Amino acid sequence: MKTAVIYWSGTGNTEAMAKAVAEGAGAECFAVSEFSGNVEDYDAIALGCPAMGAEELEDSEFEPFFAGIEGKLSGKKIALFGSYGWGDGEWMRQWQDRVTGDGATLVNGEGLIVNETPDDDALASCKALGEALAK
Ligand SMILES: Cc1cc2nc3c(=O)[nH]c(=O)nc-3n(C[C@H](O)[C@H](O)[C@H](O)COP(=O)(O)O)c2cc1C
Repeated sequence: MKTAVIYWSGTGNTEAMAKAVAEGAGAECFAVSEFSGNVEDYDAIALGCPAMGAEELEDSEFEPFFAGIEGKLSGKKIALFGSYGWGDGEWMRQWQDRVTGDGATLVNGEGLIVNETPDDDALASCKALGEALAK
């Protein structure tokens, strides 16, 4: 199974999660600005983005990227993760709905959210998410 981790991170919290997910999945890890592959070549993809804007995906790089691949997600295994600050995870609930609406299978049935900097327990959860993605 071909697997990738693709993320956006402003201050490094979601990046730390991405590295742990990639370790668990045994997958390559790309910042979204560095990803030049075709998602159609992958069976399973972990996507990471923090809550930005007002409970939104980051709007200059990640949202355009995600909107551009939504039509190609049907039948794929998708894991979602990201860090947040003061909200209640609304951005992730909306993102989950988009992914399932696109016809993808959402790993664990929901995205993994972590408040600000991931601690050791949170990083272990990220690693486990990667393992579940690659199974
Ligand atoms: C411009 C901006 C907008 C944000 N909007 C939200 C938000 O709507 N809800 C929330 O819970 N956190 C929000 N945050 C907090 C970030 O999600 C949080 O700091 C997160 O850990 C950043 O992850 P990163 O280090 O991967 O960039 C916002 C942060 C910034 C800088």
